[in-house]
Amino acid sequence: MSLIKDKINSKNLPKHIAIIMDGNGRWAKTRGEERTFGHRNAINAVRNAINACNEIDIPYLTLYTFSSENWSRPANEVSTLMNLLVETLLLEAEEIFSKGLRMHVIGNLEKLPPLVKEQLERVMELTKENTKGNLVLAISYGSQNEILNAVKSISSDVKEGKVDVENIDEKLFENYLYTKDFPPVDLLIRTSGEIRISNFLLWQIAYAELQFLDILWPDFTKDIFFQCIVDYQNKERRYGLTGDQINAQ
Ligand code: IPE
Ligand code: IPE
Ligand code: MG
Repeated sequence: MSLIKDKINSKNLPKHIAIIMDGNGRWAKTRGEERTFGHRNAINAVRNAINACNEIDIPYLTLYTFSSENWSRPANEVSTLMNLLVETLLLEAEEIFSKGLRMHVIGNLEKLPPLVKEQLERVMELTKENTKGNLVLAISYGSQNEILNAVKSISSDVKEGKVDVENIDEKLFENYLYTKDFPPVDLLIRTSGEIRISNFLLWQIAYAELQFLDILWPDFTKDIFFQCIVDYQNKERRYGLTGDQINAQ
């Protein structure tokens, strides 16, 4: 029984939590191991995040799994990460399914090795009827590229007369993003002590609460996650209003 979990107010849960799972390489290094050892030990932390969300019914969890910039890492690290993804999807698909989770993927999937794409598509298909929660993997994902692609698609729809320039607003724009079916991010967590966004969900975090944790990703536990939610609930989200206005609502 987790005491921290008991402090969570189930009436004020974030609908969408996004995590920048950072620090695997440093975790391995402090143990005198190769960076890839850190990636292998990251899987359990991923499980902790998914299970914690599932236990308290967070509807959307987005995990930054591999960025568009991560393609420039050494080839052996990239291939280890791709293999790990395939292995993990093979091992965990049933578990994801039986938890009632629907898996989605956002990012430039064209760049992925066929085996990774196949597994991702298989698990998305397997879980597409699930409604208890949504697990979104950001893979080969870059937010600036996502925004540029949206701009290109809108421009071509304007050119073809499908969209009127006057009608381009936030809502319409969002319909051109990978995340069009998901609510905005309420809480963004980054591990590893770095205080940066690294090209993740730039549009979608406009009003998110940001939490930067000093721990490295493989050390992430359910209790750490529950504490993040407690801290989130202690914030006043003002959206530009005054505190008095919020209290009067
Ligand atoms: C996050 O850990 C995993 C990925 C980016 C794929 P890192 O591999 O970035 O670990 P550090 O930040 O170098 O410690
Ligand atoms: C962000 O971490 C990407 C993922 C966690 C998948 P990085 O380790 O790639 O970010 P930077 O390079 O430190 O900004
Ligand atoms: Mg890193």
